[in-house]
Order: sequence, then C-alpha cells, then structure tokens
Amino acid sequence: MNQPIGKPSDRFNNEDSNRSSNPHFDDVVGVRLSRRGMLRGGVAATTSAVLGTAALSGCASMGGMANRIDTLGFAPVPRSLADTVIVPAGYKAQVIVALGDPLLPGTAAFKNDGTDIDFDKRSGDHHDGMEWFSLDASGKASATYNSRGLIAMNHEATTDEKLSSFFIHADGGTSTLPRKGDEVDKELMIHGLSVVEVQSQGSSWAYKADSQFNQRVTTMSDAVIMGPARGSPHLVTRFNQDATRSRGTLNNCGTGKTPWGTFASGEENWFGYFSRPANDNDRRGRTDKSVVGLNRYGRAAGAPSRHGWETGGTADRYVRWNNGASAASAREDYRNEMNTFGYIVELDPYDKNQPVHKRTALGRMGHENVTFAIPVAGQPIVAYMGDDARGEYIYKFVSDAKWESQDANPANRLATGSKYLDRGTLFVAKFRDDGAGEWIELSMKNPIVAANPDFEFTSDAEVAIFTRLAADAVGATRMDRPEWGGVNPRNGEIYFTLTNNSNRTVDGEVSTDAANPRFYSDMRGTRQQLGNVNGHILRLAEAKPTDARFKWDIYLFGAEAGADKAMVNLSNLSDANDLSSPDGLVFSPATGICWIQTDDGAYTDQTNSMMLAALPGKLGDGGKRTLAYKRSDGSEKRVDTHIGKPQSEATLKRFLVGPKGAEITGWCETPDGRAIFVNIQHPGENTKMADVRDPGKYESQWPANAGYGAGRRPRSATIVITRNDGGLIGS
Ligand code: FEO
Ligand code: CA
Ligand code: CA
Ligand code: CA
Repeated sequence: MNQPIGKPSDRFNNEDSNRSSNPHFDDVVGVRLSRRGMLRGGVAATTSAVLGTAALSGCASMGGMANRIDTLGFAPVPRSLADTVIVPAGYKAQVIVALGDPLLPGTAAFKNDGTDIDFDKRSGDHHDGMEWFSLDASGKASATYNSRGLIAMNHEATTDEKLSSFFIHADGGTSTLPRKGDEVDKELMIHGLSVVEVQSQGSSWAYKADSQFNQRVTTMSDAVIMGPARGSPHLVTRFNQDATRSRGTLNNCGTGKTPWGTFASGEENWFGYFSRPANDNDRRGRTDKSVVGLNRYGRAAGAPSRHGWETGGTADRYVRWNNGASAASAREDYRNEMNTFGYIVELDPYDKNQPVHKRTALGRMGHENVTFAIPVAGQPIVAYMGDDARGEYIYKFVSDAKWESQDANPANRLATGSKYLDRGTLFVAKFRDDGAGEWIELSMKNPIVAANPDFEFTSDAEVAIFTRLAADAVGATRMDRPEWGGVNPRNGEIYFTLTNNSNRTVDGEVSTDAANPRFYSDMRGTRQQLGNVNGHILRLAEAKPTDARFKWDIYLFGAEAGADKAMVNLSNLSDANDLSSPDGLVFSPATGICWIQTDDGAYTDQTNSMMLAALPGKLGDGGKRTLAYKRSDGSEKRVDTHIGKPQSEATLKRFLVGPKGAEITGWCETPDGRAIFVNIQHPGENTKMADVRDPGKYESQWPANAGYGAGRRPRSATIVITRNDGGLIGS
C-alpha cells in the first residue's frame, strides 16, 4: 500500500483501513437502492418543493454577511520557504496565544525549555480548528461584540518522533518502551480543547491569562455520552459500567459553531493512541463484532500505540490506552475504551463547569469538522461531515427536531444541543458519474444496513458506533480524504476539501471515478509522488438541505501552476494562487469570502503551507471534462467529470504563507470581519528528536523568531490578522 503523501504527522494522521469493494458493487447496490434504499433516503420527496434556493438565500441572514465582499482587494503573496508568517502589504499578523501559555490561575510563565509542567492549565499543542464567541463589555454572551470574545479551539496532536512529544521534554523524552509516567502525564494534558478569552485595544490583541472563562479540556476530563450509543454494551469500560460517561476527548481536528452558539469539535485520529496485544483477536473470538469493528477502525491485533502511554505505569490513566481484552469482562478492563472516541463533541464555551457532550448520533469516524446548513424555522437542523482517511466517506445528519428561532440564544446551550443532535438520521453520500448524487440512510430502517454480511447490525446504537461498516454496506463512494466542509452563505452550497490520496490509482483497488478523477505523477525534489497528489475541492447543491438527492461538481483542483493543464492543473492555477493539499475551509459569515488552508507535504519543496481567499461561483459554472488514462494492460480508461470554471486572480488569491514545517488550520473572525484568527500548527515538525537541545538545528524557531515568548523551541500558536487601516479583511 502506498504511504501517505509528504509529511511526518501523516504517519498517524492518515488511517487506511477501508477494504470495502464498493466501487465494483455499484450496480448491485444500485438495484437494491432503487427498490428500497431510496425509500429510506430521507424526508425529501414530499416536501422538497416547499423551499427552493430562493428561500435559502433569503435565510442567509444567519451569518449575516453584514460586510459582504465581492472583490478581493489585496495583492497576492508569493510562495515562500521562509520561517515566518507572510501576509499581504497593508496587513499585520500578531501571535496571541501559543503552546504552553498559562490559561488557568497559579501557572508559571512558560519557559519553553522542556522543563514546564501543569499542561492541564496551559494552552495545549497543535492548535487546530477554532470558533469565535463574543462577550459584551459586562461579560455576557453576545452575537455582535467585536473587541472581546472567547476563542474555543482544538489541540489536535503533538510534534513527535519515536513515541515522544520531544519538544516538551528537556532531553527529548524516552524513545523506547516503557515510557516514563511523568512524560506521559504531560502528553496526556497537551491534547484536548482550550477556551481562551481575547481582547483588543485598537488593532492590538492579547489573550487574558486570568479570565474566569478560560477552560482546558484534556484526555482526562469528564465527558457525557449522548445519543443512540449512550448505554450501549460496546461502550462499557472499567471506568464507567453503564456507558453514560467517558474520559476526555482526543485528536480534535476541525470545528463547527452550532446555530445555538456552542462549539463542536471532531475527534479524528484517535485510534492511533491505543495499543492492542497480538493475541487479542483470539481472546475476543476472531469473528466477534468487536474484532470486525477494531479492524475497520485501524486497530488490527498487535497494533502499537503512537506514544506508548499504556506503559507509563499501572494507574488507570495509563492502562486505559491498552485496548486489549485482558480481564473476564468489559466491566473490568479497557477493551471498549477506543469506542468512547470518534465522535463530534459539543462544548459550551461560556460555561467551564459543564462537561463536554459526545453527540453519537452524528456517527463515529475520523471526524474532521462539522458544518451546519443555514437553519430554517420549522425545518430540521442539517449538519455535514467528512471522515478523513484514504477512501472514506462524506456524511450528513438530519435532526428529528425542527428549528425554533428562539433557540439561537437559548438559556441552556447544551440542553439545546441535546434537542437537535441526539435524535435524527445519518446519511452517507454516493456520487454518480452524471453529476448527481444520493444521501443513503444509515439506520435500522434501511434493510441493507441491518443485513450487512460482515457485521449484522442489531440497533441504531451499533450504527452510531460502527458507522463506517454501515456506510460500506450501502455502497458509499470512497473519497480522496474528506477534510473540512463549509456552507456558502451566498447560496447554501456545500463545499468539501479532499486533501490528497496516495491510494488513488487508474485501475487498482481505489480507481479514479467522476468525483475523484485524478491520478498523476509529481516530483518532490527527487521523490516521485503518485495518486491524487494535490487534492481537490468538491461542491454539492441541494434544492433543500433535507433532500436525499444532490448535484455536485469539482470547484477546484489543487496543482502546481506549471503542471499539465489537460490532466493536472485543471483549474488554471497560476503563481498567484497555486496550492496543494487543501484542508481547512471556512466561509466568513461576515464577508462571504471562502478561506482555504493547506496542510501539505507534496509541494513543500517550493512553498510552506498557506491560506488563500476565494470568491467561488456556483455549481455548474464550468462544464463536463473527460480525463483519458492508460490502464496497466494498455487499454484506455475515460473518466467523465464535472468541473468548475477556471480560476484567476479575481476569484482566488494567496493571502498567507506560514513558517517552516507548519500547516495552516482553523479560522474565525470578529463579527464585523475586521480581525481574523488563524492557527499555525506544528512549525518545525521535521526537526529530529536528537537535535532537541540544539536550536540551530531546528527546522523552525517560530514564533520565537517573531519576537514571541521565551526559548527557541517552535510552538503551535494562534495569530490575529488585522489591516493597518482597520478595514475589512480581504476587501
Ligand atoms: Fe486533522 Fe484531517 O486533518
Ligand atoms: Ca512537485
Ligand atoms: Ca485538518
Ligand atoms: Ca490534514
């Protein structure tokens, strides 16, 4: 099997366990669907004519687009390999909170030399998705205040090599098993979530270290299991025998802001933190459902864990990472611990005394982010989600409850979350070659799901916990690593980044298809890269978010400007806007600009990761395109696809390039669109553990080299970008 494209973090951030043969069974599944699946396809047919796209655009006041931008007014920044953050002329980028900064009372200043402790009271590592929540002058929740607010963010992972998060240990830490308990204790705490109060004085921003609102959620924090999986035997552990609670959240990647004003976080590559003994299949029984589930979610028997946390000692906080069946029953060991991760997690940013809620109705997968359709009074809440691994799927959730506008500002935010997110229906996307697609229901009401020959489902709890197996059964389309989704406030269309796929081939297991049409070769220095090397961005349109059908096209193909325009650079990218590995994607509620961020390992011989501003058109603004390939037997394969209009500087421009080794991820703004916040994740991630004491050998010394903080070890951080003239960002 091909290795992930490019970067060190993809060793653990790019799970690859979809062995379903869905593309080859299309015809069979199609017949079954026409008989039954489409009947279960949603609430569409009877009501789809009631609200068309006119109604959608009329409701675009959710985000407001109070300061809508229709012309990108800045000069694009060039590609860069410098160890700095570059923004356009007339703009300023300022670091406001970085790994290790004190967030809770009684925490010493961060020395950044590997001796710091108390990470449960400091900013975590690998800042990822984030959302903005205004506070007014008196400290009350607000939807409009621009100079004071809370940023809720994910701390996805940590820069590591040979087990150890080496930059937070003075000597780099232990690189063999067993790990030292005090090192593990630090690593357990640098994961999770933060809520950080930030304030501005003029154009200068700072975080408030002593804010009563600051929160940390870690791998050890209380969590509540909600939705269909609550109480399931598959979630019983020694920690919680009635499967209503669990501990912590892990590998939190993309985010979403709910229509009722809470923070939603996707648990992505959690499986890699668990070990399984080599004899675990025998202990469980080789055909046991749990074994089928573990294999499908990336944990074959004998799998080692990313950090070896399970070896830190005999205390519960260490042994829970050994996912083996070691005792007589699940009530006495942690064989089910991994099943308590993989969900969309909801947090109330304004109330640090409430535990996070795991919303299991939205399925269990390598969740990237969640993005909500523009809510319509009297209609269900609809959420779109991607499962980021090679060949995984795109999903949507439709709530049972109908939206009531007064819930936009509820008295109890998490109770409102329970109202909309604990009961509803999950669907998975199947893309057809003709530019149409179907959302297929994943529930016991769909007989194809229930009768999966590999895993006979007996409850909707099992569908929520083993969602990938349900999606395999209905013939969902295997995608090129679905990352962030976003909804265009101009027209309600749904965008998904598909970051890259080294498994995509012309005639192999995961063969080019209409929605994932590219396979090509690209050189990174002297190394050949094959597959969909640079990724693409898909676009879906529904007459109404609850519809079971959609139309799709490919808005944008990542590519190098100089690449072949017939087969690779299909979107006419130039030096002003070429990009590789789109990952973050957020539409500004204030201006409507689509911000695209990269997490790249393919084009990094010529540029660091970046962020671009886009004014995308709409589905169908391009046309049909046929890509011709040669199969290995010499025969021709033609792939018909549907692509958006060619790009120019007027529609897509590079806005920011990050420091060395970093990905650009996470985006939020003040409600007026005059300050945006962006995360710089894992600068210097290609540094060698052996060089931890030698700053001259670090790949990056950012943000110290930007004048921020003590020490020279690189740190993930949040930056704020403003315009020198106080104007709108991007105009
Ligand atoms: Fe955490 Fe899929 O990026
Ligand atoms: Ca190249
Ligand atoms: Ca991501
Ligand atoms: Ca990524």
